[in-house]
Amino acid sequence: MSETRPSPRKILVTSALPYANGSLHLGHVLEYIQTDIWARFQRARGHDCLYMCADDAHGTAIMLKAEQLGLTAEQHIANMQAEHERDFADFLIGVDNYHSTHSQENRELSAMIYQRLSENGHIASRTITQAFDPEKQLFLADRYIKGTCPRCSTPDQYGDNCEACGATYSPTELIDPVSAISGATPVEKESEHFFFTLPAFTNFLKDWTRSGTLQDEVANKLAEWLEEGLQEWDISRDAPYFGFEIPDAPGKYFYVWLDAPIGYMASLKNYCDQHGLDWQEYWKKDSNAEVYHFIGKDIVNFHALFWPAMLDSADFRTPTKVCVHGFLTVNGKKMSKSRGTFINARNYLDHLNPEYLRYYFAAKLTAGVDDLDLNLDDFIAKVNSDLVGKVVNIASRTAKFVSKSGGELATELADEKLWNQFVEAAPRIAEYYESREYARAMRDIMALADAANAWIADKAPWSLAKEEGKESEVLAICSQGVNMFRALMTWLSPVLPNTAAKASEFLNGELDWAAATTPLAGHQINKFKPLLQRVEKTQVDAVMEAAKESLAQLQAEAKPAGASGALDKGPLEDEPVAPQIEFDDFAKVDLRIALIAKAEHVEGAGKLLKLTLDLGGETRQVFAGIKSAYKPEDLEGKHTVMVANLAPRKMRFGVSEGMVLAAGPGGKDLWILEPHAGAKPGMRVM
Ligand code: MSP
Ligand code: ZN
Repeated sequence: MSETRPSPRKILVTSALPYANGSLHLGHVLEYIQTDIWARFQRARGHDCLYMCADDAHGTAIMLKAEQLGLTAEQHIANMQAEHERDFADFLIGVDNYHSTHSQENRELSAMIYQRLSENGHIASRTITQAFDPEKQLFLADRYIKGTCPRCSTPDQYGDNCEACGATYSPTELIDPVSAISGATPVEKESEHFFFTLPAFTNFLKDWTRSGTLQDEVANKLAEWLEEGLQEWDISRDAPYFGFEIPDAPGKYFYVWLDAPIGYMASLKNYCDQHGLDWQEYWKKDSNAEVYHFIGKDIVNFHALFWPAMLDSADFRTPTKVCVHGFLTVNGKKMSKSRGTFINARNYLDHLNPEYLRYYFAAKLTAGVDDLDLNLDDFIAKVNSDLVGKVVNIASRTAKFVSKSGGELATELADEKLWNQFVEAAPRIAEYYESREYARAMRDIMALADAANAWIADKAPWSLAKEEGKESEVLAICSQGVNMFRALMTWLSPVLPNTAAKASEFLNGELDWAAATTPLAGHQINKFKPLLQRVEKTQVDAVMEAAKESLAQLQAEAKPAGASGALDKGPLEDEPVAPQIEFDDFAKVDLRIALIAKAEHVEGAGKLLKLTLDLGGETRQVFAGIKSAYKPEDLEGKHTVMVANLAPRKMRFGVSEGMVLAAGPGGKDLWILEPHAGAKPGMRVM
């Protein structure tokens, strides 16, 4: 690989294209900051690095959202793109181009790639049966069908799984299914669909996913899927759909995920056309450029299976790496609208400096796929202590003494040994950036800042300055202080571009990565001005307040006109009592006291906990959709009530042999039943 790399390296970087149907939130921002830091680092190292992004503007959700807003889809996506671009700019995310998948370039490239797949025999067509909304005249994806859970009878469950009991099923099993769009009862309807023959690429993908393109944990997960066997991928949708009509197939559109990754190419082509460059230099089969996609863990299959297979079939090169990150949580909880931990990019930007968050994310980002938590107290503490207390402090306590003696830095270092620590750290810090181990880079930088501050405190130039004849010693100490600050700021510049720019004004020269550990000597600097303010708790509180307000607004908009707020309604009004039954009906349900012997997380299940329930000797395994409300360790050893004679149900993760009783709307607000003390496992509940 390195043998064929040109020097400087030619690099194309992308972030996943955000959907044009909503505002960006801090989870998106995590990804875009991660990508931007990497791109800025590469540029700082002198490489030719282009960072491309775009809005992902197609699909049913966007079409319906535009309709709801009374806009054409084109107007709606134009508004969203403008908003997204503003958020990018204000978070200092320096994309070279921000385009749209609903663009001429993407239309042409998608048609061309489809054409090639088709010519190579990788497109199949067949008729499928799907739920159809007879009122809207629209085929319904699973998430647009609502109904009563076939297992626990909770009404208003979406698509293919029940929020309340965790059951998974096919939408056709829902009781009283309705279209979530019109309320009409869906009918089954046939239609011809086009498929990409993914199974033909199984061997290619087995090699590709193991060729250093993915993190090990991601490759391992994909290996499981590849072993299970790939399915053909349905890439067409019927009108009405907002997207590109498939050439020679009137009324058939490309599924949004077909043309979305092609949007990476389209954005690059749009950029290259404006800058006299050739986009194919990056994408042709024997390209010597490197291509990196930064994505979240939820869209791995699209980027590491479908996309490389499509590229291979269409005679393009495949990505050098797909860099997968985990999800952002806020104060330890999933970003969720119901929990008020959902923070829009703009909520943050209205109250806080983007560089604080850039630093905080950098200080926690690794090359792994673990989730990353934004803990707001930790955020305040870390930014204040590291950026203000450590790094900026080095300059603010030394610069004034240099200025007092005329502003020219000394020609000799005061402490060569200390300086050598900086020299030795430089390649290590670069390596950490390169491998996306930003947290390690930040830790090294802050350790050096600590060393610098300890040394300055020990030398105490402010005391020496009061002594007669110590001027040159003071200047030497403070000049080294300024030079250490300069090195640290150079290494922080991918994370803190604005502060780096201000520092470079103060230092009266560019921050140059290659020269960071060559001290400036006899060089005139400018007067030091404060570089960064401390974060105040009140600002963070204001962000959370704003987040709550935008959420309330969003929820108000989402309610159909005329619907009154649910707040003044009691639970019986929300969910009327079910029709009357006879005692014999009730007696059929065998409820038993159970001891929760074991509670475990289920790999890959977002909502489920696996419970081992002891009925006084016999045990049952039950998958309960209560993960959002309970930690496994809080349940073990407690008693609860279970339905013991429910027919076992095969779920994706195993067989569930019954269910536990719980109340509440869901999410964090879910409470399982617990008997009064004295009830013993196995006792019947009547
Ligand atoms: N439009 C698709 C991507 C198409 S790429 C050819 C999409 N859009 S998205 O808006 O839902 O997500 C954009 C990116 O943000 C994805 O990489 C996704 O993983 C990431 N994130 C969305 N929520 C996130 C968090 N809470 N935390 C971290 N990243 C998150 O998927
Ligand atoms: Zn259910």
